[in-house]
Amino acid sequence: MTIQTLSPDNHEMIKGAYDIHKQVTYSPWSYAAFADCVTPPYQMIALGDADVIGYAIILMVADEATLMDIGVSPGARGKGAGKALTQKVIDICTQKKMATIWLEVRASNSIAINLYKSHGFTGQEVRKKYYEAKDGREDAIIMKRNNF
Ligand SMILES: CC(C)(COP(=O)(O)OP(=O)(O)OC[C@H]1O[C@@H](n2cnc3c(N)ncnc32)[C@H](O)[C@@H]1OP(=O)(O)O)[C@@H](O)C(=O)NCCC(=O)NCCS
Repeated sequence: MTIQTLSPDNHEMIKGAYDIHKQVTYSPWSYAAFADCVTPPYQMIALGDADVIGYAIILMVADEATLMDIGVSPGARGKGAGKALTQKVIDICTQKKMATIWLEVRASNSIAINLYKSHGFTGQEVRKKYYEAKDGREDAIIMKRNNF
C-alpha cells in the first residue's frame, strides 16, 4: 500500500478521498473546495492503490503548516493507516522546512488526539464551543508540533 501526493489528474483518487471525507466529516466541504486542495498552497496525500483508504490535506504557508483534514475509511481503521498518513504529513513538512504543524480537533475525538500526541503534537489552547455538534456546540483543541 502506497501513499502518494495527488495531482489534479488523479480524478478517481480525489473522488475516493472525497467519499471518505463525506463519511467522516460533520460538515463536509463541497467537492470543488476539496478538489482544490491538490494544488499549492495545499497538498493532498492518499493511501491506497486503486481504492483510497485514507487521505490527508496539508496547508503550507511560509514556514508554518496546518493539517487541515485527515480521514481513514471506517472499514479500514485500527490497522495503522492513520499513523502512516500522520507520519507522511510530518515527513513532507520536515522536508519542506515547515517549522511547525498546527491542527485543530474536537475535544471529544480521543482517537485522533491520541494519534497526534503519539506523533509529537501537544495541546496549545482550547477554543470554547468552536464546533457545531449534534446537541449544541463543542470545544476545539488546538495542537502544534515543532519540527525544528
Ligand atoms: C483518526 C483516524 C484518522 C485514525 O485512523 P486509524 O487508521 O484508525 O488509526 P491507526 O490504526 O493508525 O491508529 C493510530 C492511533 O490512533 C489511536 N487509536 C486508534 N484507534 C483507537 C481507538 N479505538 N481508541 C483509542 N485510540 C485509538 C491510537 O493512538 C493509535 O495508536 P496505537 O495503535 O499505537 O495505540 C480515524 O479514526 C478517522 O478517520 N477518524 C474520523 C476522521 C477524524 O476524526 N479525523 C481527525 C480530524 S482532526
